[in-house]
Amino acid sequence: MTVSRAPLCHQGLEVSQLMAGFWRLKHWGMNAQELLGFIEAIMEMGVTTMDHAMVYRSEAPFGAALALKPSLRQQMEIVTKCGIRPAGFGPLGASHTSHYDSGHEAIVESVEASLRDLGTDYIDVLLLHRPDYLMDVHEVAEAFAALKAQGKVRYFGVSNFSPAQFEALQNIWGDGLVTNQIELSPYHLQALDSGVLEQCAGYGVRPMLWSCLAAGSLLTPVDAKGQRLLTALQKVREETGAGSVEQVVYAWVLALPCRPVPLLGSSKLARIADAVKALSLSLTREQWYSIWEASNGAPVS
Ligand SMILES: NC(=O)c1ccc[n+]([C@@H]2O[C@H](COP(=O)([O-])OP(=O)(O)OC[C@H]3O[C@@H](n4cnc5c(N)ncnc54)[C@H](OP(=O)(O)O)[C@@H]3O)[C@@H](O)[C@H]2O)c1
Repeated sequence: MTVSRAPLCHQGLEVSQLMAGFWRLKHWGMNAQELLGFIEAIMEMGVTTMDHAMVYRSEAPFGAALALKPSLRQQMEIVTKCGIRPAGFGPLGASHTSHYDSGHEAIVESVEASLRDLGTDYIDVLLLHRPDYLMDVHEVAEAFAALKAQGKVRYFGVSNFSPAQFEALQNIWGDGLVTNQIELSPYHLQALDSGVLEQCAGYGVRPMLWSCLAAGSLLTPVDAKGQRLLTALQKVREETGAGSVEQVVYAWVLALPCRPVPLLGSSKLARIADAVKALSLSLTREQWYSIWEASNGAPVS
């Protein structure tokens, strides 16, 4: 089974139904050749959309792997993020205090650094990584327009934005935002009630979901809520005959009507191959709510 592709948004961009996230790449201990092997293997499974951020420091090693086989660039979509200026490093020079910066210069400099490190001349999707409370939406739109006119970025979106923050930028950015990348897992349910999923659906764009496995803690619970959830997930796994608890988790998020795109954070090819099977797994409403109930700690009332 391979992952198929589908539009992310009404603006025309297609992505794979599951994406690969490279936040943890710096801990994977892969050299460029090994990373190239990993990238080729996930692309053979159909996972063609790659998630980065300037602050992950994943772009330079990814770019080094890509340089070994440049033809892969045209066959993948690269998503990256800007807007966080960590203390100590960054394209605008070291700052003393970590902060958010969605100013024109910060956005453009971050993109230039991403392009250089990735060894590419365009980014498919640029996201503002976190809401900046000092954001001037007009300035952001000007930076987006300049990057688009230069052919450096094809599409723009946001990450971790509330519906009101999304709306504020959406109203000004004429091309329309193409996604909101947010946290959602059976452990972290806030997005179900924030209105962010309904907003994406209303604008005809699909949210990207990060940490669907709650950073792996759904498999190795650290508290009573996690233990309750693992028990509920295992019960649904037995009922459905799914190959793993992870497949049940991905099927649970994929059941949402906003048609989200989950990010896979694993460095293990076997785990990615296993996750792909979730695309053909469906849960009953009863099963879906049994997982919601385990997280909530109280029955539906
Ligand atoms: N926009 C944002 O603010 C934001 C924030 C966080 C993340 N992200 C994006 O989302 C991506 C995914 O996030 P994530 O890495 O937190 O996703 P995740 O899938 O929830 O967690 C991945 C972690 O779980 C571990 N894991 C997977 N299966 C496991 C198992 N059966 N038992 C124990 N551990 C297991 C993985 O280890 P192995 O490698 O050993 O499998 C990896 O360390 C990131 O790479 C990044 O691209 C975005």
